[in-house]
Amino acid sequence: MEKILILDFGSQTTALIGRRIREMGVYSDIIPGDGDLGGGALDGVRGIILSGSPESVYASGTAPDRRLYECGIPLLGICYGLQRMTADLGGAVEPLPRREYGRVAVTLDRDACKRLEKKAAQDFLREFSEGLVASTFSAWMSHGDTLTRLAPGFAQAGTSVTGYPALVYHREKPWFGVQFHPEVTHCERGGELLSAFVLGVCHCAKNWTMEAYIQQTCAELRTRAGEKPVLLLISGGVDSTVAGALLLSALSGDQVHLMYMDTGLMRKNETRAVRRSLERLGARHLHIIHCEDEFLGALAGLDSPEEKRKTIGDLFISIQEREVARLQLPETYFLAQGTLYTDLIESGKGVGKKAHVIKSHHNVASPLVEAKRRAGKILEPLEKLYKDEVRTLGRLLKLDEDLVGRHPFPGPGLAVRILGEVTREKCAILREADAIFIDELKKRRNRENGKTLYDDMWQAFAVLLPLRSVGVAGDVRTYGYILALRAVTSADGMSADVYPFNANDLIEISTLITNSVPAIGRVSYDISSKPPATIEWE
Ligand code: XMP
Repeated sequence: MEKILILDFGSQTTALIGRRIREMGVYSDIIPGDGDLGGGALDGVRGIILSGSPESVYASGTAPDRRLYECGIPLLGICYGLQRMTADLGGAVEPLPRREYGRVAVTLDRDACKRLEKKAAQDFLREFSEGLVASTFSAWMSHGDTLTRLAPGFAQAGTSVTGYPALVYHREKPWFGVQFHPEVTHCERGGELLSAFVLGVCHCAKNWTMEAYIQQTCAELRTRAGEKPVLLLISGGVDSTVAGALLLSALSGDQVHLMYMDTGLMRKNETRAVRRSLERLGARHLHIIHCEDEFLGALAGLDSPEEKRKTIGDLFISIQEREVARLQLPETYFLAQGTLYTDLIESGKGVGKKAHVIKSHHNVASPLVEAKRRAGKILEPLEKLYKDEVRTLGRLLKLDEDLVGRHPFPGPGLAVRILGEVTREKCAILREADAIFIDELKKRRNRENGKTLYDDMWQAFAVLLPLRSVGVAGDVRTYGYILALRAVTSADGMSADVYPFNANDLIEISTLITNSVPAIGRVSYDISSKPPATIEWE
């Protein structure tokens, strides 16, 4: 299959480049920046993009296989990628006196673009420059180094407001470089610039679809797993459920073992919905572990968020090991996970192994997973996908819409939404209140775009505070818990804005909750964005 190859030097946005290309309907593969380009590595490759990086080319930054510059395939360097090409090809890169970050104006030399002599440069720059209203556009930058001398053969077509090269091209070869990040949505005409390279210069056909991804991934799963058993740990969230559906469509139901832990910290009816959905897809070995007592027992008396998270993480791991051992699968079994591309990047295990660690996810770090990874027995069929792509995949695999469209849910479950000590009684109260909130969000619509409020937001949930307040019901004085409602919009959970509710919706939902859940006396709405707050409360 023809594709664009992305060399990952560890930028936080490498996966975004891949995603933008897939949105054009073109397949893209990401390999480490120093990956071997020999053998069949360049088969079907129509263009190569060099990603950004937190490193500096002059301070032992990762270098690509030199065959990159001899293969004749069009190249596009982005940020560090451009600096890498410049340093490798005889130019100079030096530190900036002050880092450039965020929106930066770039001025395009339109006359130079019109005079371009080579076809590839014309395809790339003319199309992009002709679509710009003014010569100056708003690019998005994040760099501490700059080109101070172009490599021989290169010419400058764009300059940043600070006077540094922002867009360069080679006079003879189909080689381009940008100091800014066209893959980031805040970059004006960034998508057009990438498509000018992928479609205009590399002439890729738009034939990559989710159906093709399913076919290819199922074939890979069959080849790798053969007849061996495959065990998938399911959390009830979208990712692992879709991974389960994919395994069931690729492999025989007898081969696939699905294990789900009911920790007692799940949402209302979650266990039932997961069971129903997976059985409908042909699951024959669905192991539901009821471990509510163990989790609630271990959490008794704990009120610090970190202690609670650690206790839950440790217990997950020990129960997982005990229950997996109980299955008595042969040593050769494969362990599957619903890891997404973003999980790998966030936990510093990006394909280039260079992404700086942002946060650790327990689903990537457990000893069982690590041991299986060392043994080459891990299957991660969603590892190249983003959340919304996983949802599309789930729909194609005919998973229930209720599961596929679900908001994200944290691994530690309701425990991080019950502030302070977690008890069985508090879990029951929160589960009821949360279900009413979510149910109402699914019934009500945003009048402007017609979407249900639930689909209009990234995530919504209720939080039970360890506080009670005085109220009155009938003629009786009450002393009920305070519940906070949280609803945010976000593209990826890394930052978030408060959902701008219509006040009547909030007031009506609050009344419904206090009327239906007597233990709750008062409802408030969290109006903090992320940052400075996080989405979850603990
Ligand atoms: P925060 O609270 O860090 O959350 O702003 C960002 C996104 O991540 C989810 N989240 C978690 N997911 N394990 C998970 O799998 C966790 O421990 C965890 N903590 C937060 C959160 O729900 C939001 O979508």
